[in-house]
Amino acid sequence: LQAQLTIDPAHRVAPVRRRTFGTFVEHLGRCVYTGIYEPGHPTADEEGFRGDVLALTRELGVTTVRYPGGNFVSGYRWEDGVGPRERRPRRLDLAWHSTETNEIGVDEFVRWTRVAGLEPMMAVNLGTRGVQEAVDLLEYCNIPSGTALSDLRIANGAKEPHDIRMWCLGNEMDGPWQIGHKTAREYGRLAAETARAMRMVDPGLELVACGSSGSSMPTFGTWEATVLEETYDLVDHVSCHAYYEEKDGDLGGFLACANDMEHFISTVVSTADQVGARLGSRKKISLSFDEWNVWYMSRVQAAAPRQDWPVAPPLLEDHYHLADAVAFGSLLITLLRHSDRVAAACMAQLVNVIAPIMTEPGGRAWRQTTFHPFAQAARHARGDVVRVEPVCPTYETAEFGEVPVLHAVATQDEAGMTLFVVNRSTTEPLELALDAGPLGAGGGAVRIAEATTLTHEDVYARNTADDPDRVAPRPNTDHRSDPLRIVLPPVSWNVIRLS
Ligand code: AHR
Repeated sequence: LQAQLTIDPAHRVAPVRRRTFGTFVEHLGRCVYTGIYEPGHPTADEEGFRGDVLALTRELGVTTVRYPGGNFVSGYRWEDGVGPRERRPRRLDLAWHSTETNEIGVDEFVRWTRVAGLEPMMAVNLGTRGVQEAVDLLEYCNIPSGTALSDLRIANGAKEPHDIRMWCLGNEMDGPWQIGHKTAREYGRLAAETARAMRMVDPGLELVACGSSGSSMPTFGTWEATVLEETYDLVDHVSCHAYYEEKDGDLGGFLACANDMEHFISTVVSTADQVGARLGSRKKISLSFDEWNVWYMSRVQAAAPRQDWPVAPPLLEDHYHLADAVAFGSLLITLLRHSDRVAAACMAQLVNVIAPIMTEPGGRAWRQTTFHPFAQAARHARGDVVRVEPVCPTYETAEFGEVPVLHAVATQDEAGMTLFVVNRSTTEPLELALDAGPLGAGGGAVRIAEATTLTHEDVYARNTADDPDRVAPRPNTDHRSDPLRIVLPPVSWNVIRLS
C-alpha cells in the first residue's frame, strides 16, 4: 500500500494543551491501594507511596490527574479520608462492591501529586451529596487559613492550601448505574447551583459539567443541551467519556474506533455552540475528555455480581496487547487533532485498573503496551498541533463504513516537526511519501531525524512482569530521504521526527 502526506504548518489547529496528557486515579480495585500506595513495599517512601510507580508515572509524562472517581465519588464522603488514620471509618463502596478503608484521602493524594509533579483535578460528589459538601471540600482544600475547614486542613498537616484549580461537578450523572443518577434537568440545576456557590468561594476555578458517559447513551446530545442550558455561564468545560474494545473478532473495526471519538467531539462541540448561540453568548465551552481508553467492559458486564466486600480487589485489570495500543494511539491522535476545543483529557486510569502501569502487590511494576504511545506523545507533542490529512487507501468497517487506513497528526515547535501516525491495515505495510516543503533547518530539505514504530508480528502480544518489553517502540530504519519515504508496518503506531 502507498500513501502521501503533505505537511503545511499553516494548517495550525491550536497549541498542544499540556492537560491533554492527564490521567485518572480512582478508589477502585488496586489503583490506589497496591497501585500508587503500598506501605511496606520495597520501593515505598516514608508516606507509603511506591517509588517504582512514581518513576513510571514520571516517565509516562502525565500532567494532570483526576481524583477520587469515577463512580466511586458519587457515594464518597471526603471527610472520611482526612485526619488521623486510626479514626477514619471503613465504608461500603457501593459503586465497586468493595470496602474503602480511607487510608488515602485528599491530603495524601495531593501530597502524592506534588511528589509526582502533577496537577490535581478534583471531583465532587453530586450523587448522594450537594452544594454544601462541595463548598466544604473547596474551603478545606483552597482557603489558606482562618476558617473551620481550612484550619482543620492545617491541623491535619497541610499548612499550604492545596490550590486545586480544576473541579468536576459530579461524575457520569447521565448513567443509570450512577449512585444518585439524575435527569439532565435535575443534574443541570444542581450543577449550576454548586458552581455558583463554588465561584463565590473562588471565581477563578475551572469547572467541568458532566456530559455523556458515551456516544451510545440514549440521552447523548439532549443531555449536553439541557445541562448547558442550565450551566452555560457557570462552567468552563463539559465532560466526555468513551471506552472502546474489540468486539466479535472485528479487529479492523476496533482499530477504527477513533471515528466514534471524532463524532463524539464534533457533536458535543456543535451542541455546546448551539446552546451558546441560543443564549446569545460569545463564550465557548470546551471539552474535558476526562475518561478515555480501551476497556473490555463487556467482560465486566458478563461477570457474576460480587457477594463480598473486599478491600482493594483486582478489578478491571485489562492486559493490553499490541492492537489495543494502536487503537489507543489513534484515540490520542484524535484528542490532539481537536486541541482547539478539547482543553483537557484523562486517560482512565493510571495504575492496575485499565491502566498503562501494572503492579504486583509487594513486587514488580511494568509498562503495558498502551504506556508507549502515551509516553511518546507526551514527550514529543510540543508547540502547535498541525492538521494533516493523508491521502491513503480506505477499508470497509461494519460500524463506521469506509475508513482511511492511516490516521495522523503533527505537532511543531522550534526543534522541528513530529508526526504521529497509525497504520490500521491488519495485513499490509504502508509506504508513506512525505511532502514537508521547505521545513528543514534554515528552510532547507527535510530529513527524518528519528523514527520509531510500535508493532509486533503477533497483534495480540502483551507485556508481562516476566517479559515487560515484548511490545515496545523500536527504531524504524526503513526510510529514505530523496524523496522522503518511510514504511509503516501493519497494525502500528509510529512517531516520526523531522528536522
Ligand atoms: O474508569 C472506570 C469507570 O468508568 C469510572 O468509575 C466511571 O466514571 C466510568 O463508567
